[in-house]
Amino acid sequence: MKQTGLFLFTALAVLCAACRYAVCLMTVLSVTAFASCSGDITESDGTTEQPENPGTPEDPDNPDGQDGQDAPDTPSGESNILVAYFSWSGNTQRMAQQIVSQTGADLFRIEPVTLYPEDYTECTEVALAERDSDARPAISTAVDADAWSGYDIVFIGCPVWWHTAPMIINTFTESYDFTGKTVVPFCTYASTYRDETLARIVELTPGAEAHLDGLGLTSGRLNDGTNVENWLREIGMIK
Ligand SMILES: Cc1cc2nc3c(=O)[nH]c(=O)nc-3n(C[C@H](O)[C@H](O)[C@H](O)COP(=O)(O)O)c2cc1C
Repeated sequence: MKQTGLFLFTALAVLCAACRYAVCLMTVLSVTAFASCSGDITESDGTTEQPENPGTPEDPDNPDGQDGQDAPDTPSGESNILVAYFSWSGNTQRMAQQIVSQTGADLFRIEPVTLYPEDYTECTEVALAERDSDARPAISTAVDADAWSGYDIVFIGCPVWWHTAPMIINTFTESYDFTGKTVVPFCTYASTYRDETLARIVELTPGAEAHLDGLGLTSGRLNDGTNVENWLREIGMIK
């Protein structure tokens, strides 16, 4: 009798252990499957490789201040130079601020009506879809017409997105008259398509009177403020 009881107890213990193992195995399998699905990028053609992940924005609640607190919605028009920029994770914003501190220019943040996802992969998916559909994402901020007419020089800056300028730059350049203005392109990037992006900003402003040589920096090179300073001196913006 004792032996039967011991056998039953052992059998039950083995059965329980097997069940726990099965549950654990199923959990591990489903988590792995989700992780690999969520990491995928929808590619429009065979030539688009996934852009390099620049890392998580410093403040996940407010990646690079997408709430627009970093630059006034309407620049004051006190300077004859405007620095207009779009930035998702803060690098281009830092570059714009360096230009402003060297030149005393007005600062204008190009802010999308619909904010881009804070998640990097989701943001790349939205950006790729916009590029491939030739979208014109709406801008919630604006330069006052009087102030605009007072600017002789307009810096336009953005990150490289999928080998080119984000589509919101098209929206911006199509919203203003560049006749008589000098345009200066700048961009930040992880590793590729810097020159193409600078050239794209020039291409998007055919009405400008002149274009000055642009500058593209990685976030590492941005840490050394002399890169921006030397460039501004080379193009005659500062002495
Ligand atoms: C949607 C998306 C696409 C990107 N595509 C490229 C690319 O084609 N080439 C590259 O060098 N970096 C690419 N990057 C990296 C950014 O250009 C780089 O991190 C940039 O400095 C970010 O600027 P921001 O902080 O002002 O948004 C991409 C980043 C994102 C979010």
